[in-house]
Amino acid sequence: MNGEIAVEDLSEDQARKELARLATEIKLADAAYYVEDDPHLTDADYDALRKRNLAIEAAFPHLKRSDSPSDAVGVMGRDGFGKIEHGVPMLSLDNAFNDEDVHEFVARIRRFLGLPEDQRVDVTAEPKIDGLSLSLTYENGVLQKAATRGDGRVGEDVTANARTLDDVPNQLAGDGWPSKIEVRGEVYIGSDDFAALNAAEEAAGRKTYMNPRNAAAGGLRQKDPAVTAKRPLKFFAYAWGEVSEAFAETQNGAVTALAKWGFQTNDLFDSHDSVDGLLAAYRDMIERRAALGYDIDGVVYKVDRLDWQERLGFVSRAPRWAIAHKFPAEKAVTTIEAIDIQVGRTGSLTPVARLRPITVGGVVVSNATLHNEEEIERLDVRVGDQVEIQRAGDVIPQVLRVTDPDRSDRSEPFEMPHACPECGSEAVREVDDKGKEDVRRRCTGGLICPAQAVERLKHFVSRKALDIDGFGAKQIELFYERGIVKGPQHVFQLERRVAEAGFDPLSQWEGFGDVSAAKLFAAIDEKREAPFGRFLNGLGIRHVGQTTSDLFSRTFVKWDEFWRAVEAARDDPDGVEEQALTSIDGIGAAAVGSLKAFASEPHNQEMMAELLREMTILDGEAPASESPVAGKTVVFTGSLEAMTRDEAKARATSLGAKVSGSVSGRTDILVAGPGAGSKLKKAQELGVTVMTEAEWIDLVSGL
Ligand code: IVH
Repeated sequence: MNGEIAVEDLSEDQARKELARLATEIKLADAAYYVEDDPHLTDADYDALRKRNLAIEAAFPHLKRSDSPSDAVGVMGRDGFGKIEHGVPMLSLDNAFNDEDVHEFVARIRRFLGLPEDQRVDVTAEPKIDGLSLSLTYENGVLQKAATRGDGRVGEDVTANARTLDDVPNQLAGDGWPSKIEVRGEVYIGSDDFAALNAAEEAAGRKTYMNPRNAAAGGLRQKDPAVTAKRPLKFFAYAWGEVSEAFAETQNGAVTALAKWGFQTNDLFDSHDSVDGLLAAYRDMIERRAALGYDIDGVVYKVDRLDWQERLGFVSRAPRWAIAHKFPAEKAVTTIEAIDIQVGRTGSLTPVARLRPITVGGVVVSNATLHNEEEIERLDVRVGDQVEIQRAGDVIPQVLRVTDPDRSDRSEPFEMPHACPECGSEAVREVDDKGKEDVRRRCTGGLICPAQAVERLKHFVSRKALDIDGFGAKQIELFYERGIVKGPQHVFQLERRVAEAGFDPLSQWEGFGDVSAAKLFAAIDEKREAPFGRFLNGLGIRHVGQTTSDLFSRTFVKWDEFWRAVEAARDDPDGVEEQALTSIDGIGAAAVGSLKAFASEPHNQEMMAELLREMTILDGEAPASESPVAGKTVVFTGSLEAMTRDEAKARATSLGAKVSGSVSGRTDILVAGPGAGSKLKKAQELGVTVMTEAEWIDLVSGL
């Protein structure tokens, strides 16, 4: 990636920092992908992060973090389902990006097994289905439980939902199945079914799904199995986990058995005895891809002999005997018809290229993001230019380059407006405290900018925040235009405000009717109680997204306590009160600054007062509240011997403690190692409990 130092040039200190940065970025990307079903990185960018992380770990093995992303696969979902521990972990696959990687994959297998040159190695090739993995446990041929992958070790119990899928047999067919077998495969939605589902979502005023995988994940993780039953979910079986006895000698034989027992297996499954054969299968799959009727994002190769699979085993998160050969991003050439400016929730101005519509990998593309003015300058894109665009995975298509930059009749270079196109306020590039200019230009209109207001409202009711069923972008735009919903508090006053504004009751509006109006009011009422984290995220305060909101929710538990701390920080010019917020591990100055600014704005104060009369904010969950340090503020000082400072902090946080960097009246415990100085003195003056590292370990061990 741009501006990165090559791994071999990294100093030890830089490597340590890089690993920390990569761990955080990968964690955030995983959360966006698995938890929020809303990826923000392309697969290629995500893979690049993981690759770099692995390369740095290989060069500096002693710096590998205890929370290294190379040991983890995904993260657990956040709400509602019971947990099921997988008998055999559900792992991930390493990736091959080019032919050479595939040659190396086979060569490594030969080396590892010590095979002579003339020994034939059969490897299977099959499509990599772009869905989500599901594990199905059968005992004596009867389905017992179904689980998602979760973090690879423990998944979510989706048994009731999985039973509704036609492709998931409740009783295995035929005979010869092991008395206990865990069948694994992919849940997905076909392209036509996806189009129909989204059309229905749109007609019902709900948010559409970004892609079939998100729709499949959403469908499987419904609280009500009756809803899952209505979703067009399908399942391909391609692997297995725990089995009571062996049931095949090859991958090929195993998949044949799965088909015989009543599972759908993929027809495009074949075995090859050469790398050239595998690569031919790969190219064939690319040709067929658009016509398959479901999304695939690569080809999976697996060593056919199961005894070899067994010997090859696993390295951290992936098997040595399998690899995913990813498809390249799909590209096409088209013309830029216009460049528009979109104003986001936090005022950022994003230039968007309006394209002559073109089909890329089976999807019609008519917009591409140009990110910011630096990107426009770098590409030198102008209206009328022919450009090469790329659609990778789920993310918004991107413009790669201008294909005819030497044309004589090009239009003038595009200039970013210095005023917001929506409200006319000045649009500026902010400069941070280190003097660095933001790449984005932002509208300074804040609350008076209608574009920002509408985007914030959309966010407030969206799946990521309050998740009000039937209240989507369309409804927000409609109610905003009519002056009915101007702020989040108005969502809860909808019925009254429709009447007060002199409109007919909602049930008489076009597109509503008695039933859907009643449903909408019920859906709104249902969200009068909202979890702390979702509510805070929903307010759309800059730098305070889901991760930060969840952290505040876990730390403060009670909304009122949190908000009192924000107001105290706002009212204290000396910045002492602010420490209650900034001292939380993972909370930065930017988030605290935004919170203070938000709480200082009189409009926001009125809005919050009104909103909290309409709503109840549910307490956050403090992790491991049975622990004796839950809710306690702990400070570590001096040198620690049994653990690193980071490890100590992480352990304390996971037990529900708040870790702070400085001692104050709020500190509960000071853990002091050799060399402790002023903090120890201050703690003694304030009467704070002081412990040695050994005493601390005693206190928290076994928890
Ligand atoms: S085999 C131990 N085969 O890809 C590896 N996985 O990136 C077992 N996937 O979690 C997986 N199609 O959800 C395998 N034909 C296929 C697949 C496939 C899709 C998914 C699966 C896995 C992920 C790994």
